[in-house]
Amino acid sequence: MKRALTLLSFGAVLAFASTQLLATGNLENGKQKAATCFACHGADGNSVDPQYPRLAGQYNLYIQQALHEYKTGQRSNPIMKGFVATLSEQDIEDVAAYFSSLPTKLDTLQGHIQGDK
Ligand code: HEC
Repeated sequence: MKRALTLLSFGAVLAFASTQLLATGNLENGKQKAATCFACHGADGNSVDPQYPRLAGQYNLYIQQALHEYKTGQRSNPIMKGFVATLSEQDIEDVAAYFSSLPTKLDTLQGHIQGDK
């Protein structure tokens, strides 16, 4: 019985892992498609200007969710609305895969507060 339960939970973990993989997009394609984003969000995803959010190391699904919200207008931002308009569903998954894979600076606000030097 215990063994059966272990097998069952292992199966559940595998199923979860494969759904995650399906939603994570293609990192290499994402890098190409993200070129238009670099001007504001930085080539390494760690923008130097505090008015642009850092994307490097952000959760993959958070990035996807944010992009969907700009698309539907749930998040209202004229700049991002224009940029997401050019992204397909696949593009969204790919750029999210790319930015989430980059080394993060989300653990510090240094240089990322208005007026900070
Ligand atoms: C001209 C500058 C500019 C460009 C280019 C740009 N963005 Fe943005 N982006 C912004 C600004 C400004 C915000 C903050 C908007 C807000 O307050 O909601 C933002 C917000 C975001 C967010 C939400 C971040 C968070 O922490 O909630 C994501 C994700 C994002 N951009 C992804 C992208 C992607 C992907 C591209 C390229 C396809 C891109 N951006 C191109 C300016 C830009």
